[in-house]
Amino acid sequence: MEIKKVGVVGCGLMGSGITETCARSGYSVVVSEINQELLNKGMSAMKSSMETGVKKGKLTEPDKDTALGRIKGTTKMEDFRDCDLVIEAVIENLEEKKRVFATLDKICPQHAILTSNTSCLSILDMAMATKRPEKVIGMHFFNPVPVMRLVEIVKTILSSDETISAAKAFSESLGKAVIFAKDAPGFIVNRLLIPYLLDAIRMLEAGIATREDIDQGMGLGCNHPMGPLTLLDFVGLDTTYFIACAMYEEFKDPLFAPPSLLKKMVTAGKLGRKSGKGFYEYKK
Ligand code: 3HC
Repeated sequence: MEIKKVGVVGCGLMGSGITETCARSGYSVVVSEINQELLNKGMSAMKSSMETGVKKGKLTEPDKDTALGRIKGTTKMEDFRDCDLVIEAVIENLEEKKRVFATLDKICPQHAILTSNTSCLSILDMAMATKRPEKVIGMHFFNPVPVMRLVEIVKTILSSDETISAAKAFSESLGKAVIFAKDAPGFIVNRLLIPYLLDAIRMLEAGIATREDIDQGMGLGCNHPMGPLTLLDFVGLDTTYFIACAMYEEFKDPLFAPPSLLKKMVTAGKLGRKSGKGFYEYKK
């Protein structure tokens, strides 16, 4: 199946990164937000990311303008009517995601593949909100999307082989490597990453080491590009808390239980880079 036009629902951190990546790979993209203000914010994030890409020699100025020209921002779901593949990247709330899938199912052409960028929620639940569950899968991207080279494709027990192979070919056309996982919370990467990040918080909470030494330990000792507490600030403490709660709810394994320091920091609005404060402080 040929994919020409892509839709992205949500133009936040992940949605804008996915839209940018698709447009830079030659696809026409429609991206939606719930209001014009959020849409403008996402559009300027993509522009500034592409400007960084130009400065870093990853694309030329004319390529940047062409890619920006391929993106149509909208606040109307009807604009997804001629998309061949749609990637949902709205807030991590299953009811909201199910609503989005039910709406897309009514609007999109019959051949369209509907995918979710969820970090941990059930793809099957989203698939069952549509009348085309065989065409619904997970496509999990990583932040920052234009830089990170992976897509996790998540198969449900109803996903068809044709859908999986079309999504694989599409992901590879974006320059991404593909791995496959079953529809189990956290898939592959977050199932391993989240307990590690939570353990780093527990280590800080227990006073075993300073935040700097924990980060330097994994940075220099294991060559990780970011130590766990820096990575937590990067991913967002609210996002991590949400994923941990969802995984704990499913597995009932203390490995996934959010430490009380994480909960307190989220309550206090210390969400990481996005709020200017997390384990570290960030200047605007
Ligand atoms: N467009 C294109 N390329 C860009 C770019 C842009 N806007 N910005 C940077 N780049 C390129 C750079 O040119 C450079 O390429 P090179 O290696 O070929 O020279 C590369 O990206 C790295 O960029 P920088 O040198 O500017 O920055 P750093 O070396 O400091 O790396 C980082 C930044 C890539 C964010 C790195 O710190 C990193 O990999 N951190 C870990 C990120 C991570 O783990 N993400 C996953 C989070 S988990 C997740 O997303 C799942 C969710 O469900 C929770």
